[in-house]
Amino acid sequence: MSAHAEYTPAVAARMAPLYGRLSRVIPAFDWPGFAPDIDAILRLKRERDAVILAHNYQTPEIFHGIADITGDSLALAREAARVEASVIVLCGVHFMAETAKLLNPAKTVLIPDTRAGCSLADSITPEDVRLLRRRYPGVPVVTYVNTSAAVKAESDICCTSGNAVKVVESLGVPRVIFIPDRYLAANVAAETKVEIIAWQGACEVHERFGPDDIRGLRDRHPGVTVLAHPECPPEVVAEADFAGSTAAMSDYVAKQRPGRVVLVTECSMSDNVAVQFPEIDFIRPCNLCPHMKRITLPGIRHALETMTEAVTLAPAVAGRARAAVERMLEVR
Ligand code: 13P
Ligand code: SF4
Repeated sequence: MSAHAEYTPAVAARMAPLYGRLSRVIPAFDWPGFAPDIDAILRLKRERDAVILAHNYQTPEIFHGIADITGDSLALAREAARVEASVIVLCGVHFMAETAKLLNPAKTVLIPDTRAGCSLADSITPEDVRLLRRRYPGVPVVTYVNTSAAVKAESDICCTSGNAVKVVESLGVPRVIFIPDRYLAANVAAETKVEIIAWQGACEVHERFGPDDIRGLRDRHPGVTVLAHPECPPEVVAEADFAGSTAAMSDYVAKQRPGRVVLVTECSMSDNVAVQFPEIDFIRPCNLCPHMKRITLPGIRHALETMTEAVTLAPAVAGRARAAVERMLEVR
């Protein structure tokens, strides 16, 4: 049956209040394609005793339509550890699902598409970390959560873009190895006296922004407030009014209420925040994360119907990786 055939009057009526909130970012033409899956997923969640965690880069029909918990990588990790339901569906990329499983191993953690990777996670292997340790004996390894569990297992402590400076400084050492994002490493180095030894990974979405993009935006949209993710090159961060994790950008908009704003990051982020602040003018040049976009409503519905794909972790890796993530969560 096609999705439109499932768009019965009953589904339309149940979904009408939700569409009222999303009409700013989802065209009326697209809604009959989304509503039946949303309706089915809300039912399946109850039947499966499942909660849906969604990253800020998920599309609005997922973020606002079916998610129970939304946030940046740090918030999703914290919340995953607290989930009491039997099943967690992680709408985000693979390392996020692994982190949820690490922190709540007794739960079934489903990822709707196992191909949802990350250029940062792909940029480094456990063997690379072991080589770095041999090259810099005694220097602790701080690992961005955008890495595989196997890489986390080789690390002393994890961090996210929301707590990286705090984590680096919490170690009380003069220098750290910081992997794998060279731009996040440079942006952290600008905010601390701790010496940072970086790896050469990059986010394929954020590395495409350049300082000229920001200057062009300011010329075309006078008075615009520019917020950038710290995975952007330092020259971009230097041109921005504020840099922070996806949650920090959201909080900035909520507190400062700029009249006109641009979020220099993945595309869906602006859509999701725009739904919450209809009075703010969002300028939307953005880059798509192809990995985040692998997660779709039909994929989530299929995951809950079939209870696939469940994330599994080798016990030898899981214990050490969990310790590195838990150490991060203890840093306040
Ligand atoms: P946040 O932790 O800021 O949400 O970032 C995750 C991510 O993948 C950014 O590209
Ligand atoms: Fe990875 Fe970049 Fe996509 Fe985030 S936006 S998941 S860092 S590729």
